[in-house]
Amino acid sequence: MTGARVPFFDRTRGDGAIEGELLAAFQRVLRSGRYILGPEVEAFEDECARALGVRHAIGVSSGSDAVLASLMALRVGPGDEIICPAYTFFATAGAIARLGAIPVFADIDPSTLLLDPASVAARLTPRTRAIVPVHLFGRCVDLGALRAVTSLPIVEDAAQAFGARDALGRAAGSIGALGCFSFFPTKNLGGFGDGGLVVTGDDALAARVRALRAHGAPEKNHHTDVGGNFRLDALQAALLRVMLPRVEAAIAARRAHARRYDSLFAGADVHLIASPPADGAATYNQYVIRVLGAGARDRLRTFLADEGIGTEIYYPVALHRQPCFASLGHDVRSFPNAEAAALETLALPIFPELEALEIEIVVEKIKVFFRSAE
Ligand SMILES: Cc1ncc(COP(=O)(O)O)c(C=O)c1O
Repeated sequence: MTGARVPFFDRTRGDGAIEGELLAAFQRVLRSGRYILGPEVEAFEDECARALGVRHAIGVSSGSDAVLASLMALRVGPGDEIICPAYTFFATAGAIARLGAIPVFADIDPSTLLLDPASVAARLTPRTRAIVPVHLFGRCVDLGALRAVTSLPIVEDAAQAFGARDALGRAAGSIGALGCFSFFPTKNLGGFGDGGLVVTGDDALAARVRALRAHGAPEKNHHTDVGGNFRLDALQAALLRVMLPRVEAAIAARRAHARRYDSLFAGADVHLIASPPADGAATYNQYVIRVLGAGARDRLRTFLADEGIGTEIYYPVALHRQPCFASLGHDVRSFPNAEAAALETLALPIFPELEALEIEIVVEKIKVFFRSAE
């Protein structure tokens, strides 16, 4: 959407300025002749482990595979029930279902859009094996509150939350048994293709994830498990190593944009998803507003598109309503908060290089929309 007056997202603005460093990283890999795993991936893993304050960081092929490998490391299998939010990206539940386990959806807290511990408590059964909370839009789930309702293993889906910290200052992903990250290009730490990371403080789980990413072989040709090809490319790691030292500045820019939106919207008839009390707890992978009224969110989106302003809907269909999960027997009443979020939320442009004037244009146009709807 780079042709838009205000694009929803534009990587070229930032990446152009560091082209020389990116080309140098590419050249390093080219000259090494090592294209999968190897020293670049190991160096990137070490740098991530230090940045996140974790013992082990394991580079994998994507955030989706990070969740999959984490659940495999916990030996999740057919018939196991895994609780996850009904409102998240598909990959969270897809990883559960691919293992033959049952995604057990729980509702979200409407004020934060994050997994609601009370809903989790209501969904626990003797077959529940693990919980997968999602730090959605870069905002930390209160894992202390989740811990109060269950002592089962927690796999943090921190795909959108690299650099976010909870109220105690712990890095998202570093709190549960395992944490999963995505380096999809739109993420706060965005790569140049697919990539992901699993982190854990547990030596045995780390060894299992390392084996699982290479077809379950801790040693070549010696397969203790059936894993997959979840390896990270050396080129991706080398390019991500250029981005990693810049992630804090990118997050700071996103937070400044969020504050600007908040203040420009103050007093307007726009329902903000209030940010958490401590700024550090959210990294604004997305800035999401709620638009009340039947069809109003979609009308606003069309209006903004006509004005050349890009927006996105994360996510228009809650997971319990996806056709592939129809056999779970849910309907429109099952998880009302997830259902409402799918109908009412709209993500506005918030990438680091967005300009202050662009934010003003977006807010002004939204105000025009609401005034004309009165
Ligand atoms: C919450 C969540 N989980 C998992 C994933 C999967 O990550 P990837 O796209 O790298 O497979 C994403 C990425 O879009 C995500 O947002």
